[in-house]
Amino acid sequence: MKTAPVVAATLDYDADGVPFSSRYNDRYHPRSGAFGQARHVFLKGNGLPERWRERERFVVLETGFGLGNNFLTTWDAWRADPRRCDRLHFISIEKHPLSRADLVRAHSASRLPALAGELIRQWPSLTPNLHSLHFDAGRVQLLLAFGDVADWLPEIVASVDAFFLDGFAPDRNPAMWQPRVLRAIGRLAADGATAATWSVARSVQSGLATAGFEVRREPGSGGKREITLARFAPRFAPRRAPSRLAAASPAERHALIVGAGIAGCAVAWALAAQGWRSTLLECLPIVTSDPPGRRAGVFHGIVNPQDGTHARFNRAAALQAQHVVCAAVERPGIDGQVAGVLRIERDGTNEAMQAQLDALGLPADYVQALAGAQASRMSGLPLTAPAWFYPGGGWVQAPALTASLLRRAGTDTVLRRGTPIAELRRHDDRWQSLDASGSVLAEAAVVVLANAFDALRLVGGAVDWPLHCVRGQTTELPASTPGLRLPLLPVTGNGYVLPELPGGMALCGATADRDDGDPALRLRDHDRNLAHLARLTGSAPDAAASTLAGRVGWRCVADDKLPLIGAVPDVQALLRPGLRLDQPRFVPRAAGLYVFTALASRGITWAALGAQSLASVISGAPCPLEASLLDAVDAGRFVSRVARRATAP
Ligand SMILES: Cc1cc2nc3c(=O)[nH]c(=O)nc-3n(C[C@H](O)[C@H](O)[C@H](O)COP(=O)(O)OP(=O)(O)OC[C@H]3O[C@@H](n4cnc5c(N)ncnc54)[C@H](O)[C@@H]3O)c2cc1C
Ligand SMILES: C[S@@+](CC[C@H](N)C(=O)[O-])C[C@H]1O[C@@H](n2cnc3c(N)ncnc32)[C@H](O)[C@@H]1O
Repeated sequence: MKTAPVVAATLDYDADGVPFSSRYNDRYHPRSGAFGQARHVFLKGNGLPERWRERERFVVLETGFGLGNNFLTTWDAWRADPRRCDRLHFISIEKHPLSRADLVRAHSASRLPALAGELIRQWPSLTPNLHSLHFDAGRVQLLLAFGDVADWLPEIVASVDAFFLDGFAPDRNPAMWQPRVLRAIGRLAADGATAATWSVARSVQSGLATAGFEVRREPGSGGKREITLARFAPRFAPRRAPSRLAAASPAERHALIVGAGIAGCAVAWALAAQGWRSTLLECLPIVTSDPPGRRAGVFHGIVNPQDGTHARFNRAAALQAQHVVCAAVERPGIDGQVAGVLRIERDGTNEAMQAQLDALGLPADYVQALAGAQASRMSGLPLTAPAWFYPGGGWVQAPALTASLLRRAGTDTVLRRGTPIAELRRHDDRWQSLDASGSVLAEAAVVVLANAFDALRLVGGAVDWPLHCVRGQTTELPASTPGLRLPLLPVTGNGYVLPELPGGMALCGATADRDDGDPALRLRDHDRNLAHLARLTGSAPDAAASTLAGRVGWRCVADDKLPLIGAVPDVQALLRPGLRLDQPRFVPRAAGLYVFTALASRGITWAALGAQSLASVISGAPCPLEASLLDAVDAGRFVSRVARRATAP
């Protein structure tokens, strides 16, 4: 998907004090009030609350989030219903979101002040992303897409039960009601889905009918004589692509996860949010206790002039990482800081950087272009080069973040340490994990490989993922080392240096070399890290490499520098003739076998969003990642790449 800058709404009020859009020359809701319309047209019109009762999950999709009144009314009705579904997912697409200040103003006299306050508190940065917001301990999930409905609908991965069609009037805002928008709605409809709108325009009704809905008129309220209601009754049931099918074990809802690093623990956390329990199988017997700060790492987004796949994925992931790291460091005992990251830019001028941001329309609460003097003030270091400032970035103690995700996964998640998985075996439609002697350690219908490079071995070499192992070393020295000046926040750019860590430690790194299996600290790597530190901080610590500490580790990296997420391709099925393999979503999958690996040097940034995306693929919940990005990280993408090359002229 090609992104476009998000243009915020200009919120006006008409003579009666009703929120008004001059851009569209229309009101946000009828004079009779937003809540009456939400209840009568959108809730009652879609058979709610009755239809969500006793269900595990119910999915609403709205066109036009506006002030969020329909969302707030729906959330309120869900809360008030003792027989509500376990999880309410509300997806909404908005081309001109309100600024936070306008949202505050719009809800200053809200009928639902507590809920409106929570929405305001979580209101995201106005970037062209799918933003995930979580309320009521995650039981209400709001996916907010900022951009045009026609661009976003084909990008939504969800099976929707009820549509709230709430654009401005079709004669003032025809783009929101065009046939291709309504057809895209039909493609997202679950069995028995319904749609409701206050508009009775003939074009809307015929568009819905063409999209596979049976359309009828019903009496309106609040000054509207009639409204339009519709039920999805297609002549042909649309077939879902293999990678978009949920795991076929709704009753059990239990996954085995191999590997309890940040990827595995994040998957357990994300699955728990969808009502699944997990058993984590980890070969290491104990958590290694390091000196404080040793495993601290940085996280932040990136900027790219084309806003291509990497930039979009990293931005979406960094926004999500910010939430989980903030939640983690709020608790005592977890070291970290979400106070921004500076990334030094050696190849550009501050003016060129600012022009890039203006062209992309990226907001200042996501990224800023700073001149050297500003970057110096912020970091407390004498910096001369300009820098990107990511206000939502930071650093965290990685094992503490992992432990925090595990704790948040709850008591239905079990961690079995000292459990190396030697092999996986398919038996009676289930996966068994075996130890080296061939004994079954655990079994379930669903298994997730979150064991970094070893995932390749467990799929038996059947899938040819181009993964590499990259050796890395960090360097530690006392913060009091003569000549050393540390920044007030992490500074990156060909290496990184963190602010002073607990225990008076300084940490910089990290090298990235071809793996040679050597776990020993190397003096020359310390020297390389100190050279990076000197470049980044303009300071020269008086420290001999032979006195320094550090850590050696391995990163699992895919050759296109993106993680591997999703169902594992079914290699036997790939041999069937006539398959369409050019797009990852059509690649056949092995039942119940999933992977989350290749987190490269961005495990902290990628873990939360990657895990949430995988959990949605497994559980069938709406995906927090858009279709084109889900394809870009799909575990089947390399099969498609080969297929495309084979058919290229
Ligand atoms: C020097 C260095 C510095 C880094 N700095 C940063 C940074 O600043 N920011 C950042 O975001 N990232 C950083 N990274 C990268 C980050 O560490 C990784 O992205 C992250 O650890 C990947 O997490 P993972 O859970 O996929 O893999 P791992 O952490 O490797 O976890 C995989 C787990 O699976 C277990 N396992 C493997 N095989 C089996 C099996 N057969 N059975 C059972 N268990 C098994 C392993 O014991 C391990 O616990 C750095 C990496 C290195 C090496
Ligand atoms: C009637 S208002 C929605 C009111 C909202 N549902 C509420 O509960 O407050 C219509 C919304 O559609 C948005 N909109 C207009 N054109 C759009 C488009 N092409 N794509 C997405 N949203 C659009 C407007 O910015 C406006 O916020």
